[in-house]
Amino acid sequence: MNILFATSEATPFCKTGGLGDVCGALPRELAKLGHRVTVFLPAFRQARQAGIPIEPTGVYVEAPIGQKHVRGHLLHSRLPNSDVEVFLVDQDHYYDRPHLYREEGEDYRDNCERFTFYCRAVLEAIAKLALPVDAVHCHDWTAGLMPAYIKTLYSAHKPWRGLVSLLTIHNLAYQGNFWHWDMALTGLDWKYFNWRQMEFYGNLSFLKTGIVFADALTTVSPTYAREILSAPLGAGMEGALQHRQADLHGIINGVDYQEWSPASDRFLGDHRYDRQNYAEGKAACKRRLQQRLHLPQRPDTPLLAAVGRLADQKGYDLIVRVMRHWAERVDAQWVVLGTGEPKYHEALSSLAGEFPDRVAVRLEFSEELSHLIEAAADVFLMPSQYEPCGLNQLYSLRYGTVPVVRATGGLVDTVVNATEATLANGTATGFSFDDYTSLALAEALDRAVRAYHHQAVWSQLIETGMRQDWSWGHSAEQYVRLYERTIRRGPVEVQA
Ligand code: ADP
Ligand code: GLC
Repeated sequence: MNILFATSEATPFCKTGGLGDVCGALPRELAKLGHRVTVFLPAFRQARQAGIPIEPTGVYVEAPIGQKHVRGHLLHSRLPNSDVEVFLVDQDHYYDRPHLYREEGEDYRDNCERFTFYCRAVLEAIAKLALPVDAVHCHDWTAGLMPAYIKTLYSAHKPWRGLVSLLTIHNLAYQGNFWHWDMALTGLDWKYFNWRQMEFYGNLSFLKTGIVFADALTTVSPTYAREILSAPLGAGMEGALQHRQADLHGIINGVDYQEWSPASDRFLGDHRYDRQNYAEGKAACKRRLQQRLHLPQRPDTPLLAAVGRLADQKGYDLIVRVMRHWAERVDAQWVVLGTGEPKYHEALSSLAGEFPDRVAVRLEFSEELSHLIEAAADVFLMPSQYEPCGLNQLYSLRYGTVPVVRATGGLVDTVVNATEATLANGTATGFSFDDYTSLALAEALDRAVRAYHHQAVWSQLIETGMRQDWSWGHSAEQYVRLYERTIRRGPVEVQA
């Protein structure tokens, strides 16, 4: 099959979170299964400066955006160590910026225009490049208009006629909602601006448009696929999703173990380790991290870490509260790596200033440090409000770092809470809690720290975790079956 991936992130070109990891890995996995995947990205500054060879193609695409005619140039590259082709839509005015979507806590004001152009440019590129495409696989709101274009403006003409589309929802809370007058930028008929189709509480919604017009929908774990059918995790779209329930599938994300294995991790230097020698390997990484972050070199003090976007989703309000309480009383070290909401930058920096021996915070995006932290930490924290899948808990398992997670979304599907029963039957891999409260997080952490001081229990948890296999193979096969079914069935009629 020929599959087109429409995504705004793919490692190693550009990434702000797990979407980048998924769209950098899944195409290569599909290629291994014999399919041809072509990835389309906006040519963000970050992607162009990633150090990967990128060539101009001399092929231009054009699209009307409101009253304007906008032109873009297609650049060509490949996902490293693969045949997977990558095209980047080059349009400096839209994409040559310091960040992908937002700066200093504010979305770029022309995001609607930037991603409307992206959606149309990719569809135009299919024709300009004479690219064989059997299905268009859209990711998140940024590609949300594509299914609608395919079924409306482009439906009568080759090569788009009869093309099917799939939409993967990586995070339902990022919806791409814009004021209604932006409808005019899209060139789509105002008749689609109704509550069953593109309108969402008075706004134009890219994500809802994708949900309504795509031929198949997926999200990134079975539990999240169920949770989004009702409030609050449906984030207002539960009605639209219930309507499409028969076409909505939960496919769990995998891990790219080429990138994320302590045995081959390029960021660990001499301190690489595997299941046989993890104790020495992790101890060496812990020493290195403590040194690097100016924490006291204490091998037997539990090191608790979090890496991620500093967004409400990730439970940093709970982390900050428990940290404040524990930093005064409990012998534990805390490490946080992340960027995001200014309120968390402030709260975390002030804790680091107050407790320099127990709290170290790095407010930056660092691939290298994120790998070192996975290897060095004893406990990885993910007390998320909601979590479509989550990748860091999966990386943690492989690195022998015990995850403490809130029981939501993909975290339910991937971490087995340590209880007497799961420890006895050898399935326990971490600690989870239900209530979204700092008390519940503190209790789970307390259980984890007690287990940490109990050598036999701790090594059992680590070893069970390290044995888990969350590689992409199985999930990639599920995507293949879904592509096949969707193509066989052909375009689904949209309810007017
Ligand atoms: P989400 O996609 O919601 O952000 P995931 O757990 O699926 O959460 O994926 C997050 C990815 O982004 C992981 O690869 C994580 O290491 C990475 N990441 C997030 N913040 C940072 C940061 N500040 N520095 C380096 N990597 C980060
Ligand atoms: C989103 C989700 C995260 C998921 C990632 C990749 O950003 O928040 O849970 O792992 O997408 O699918």
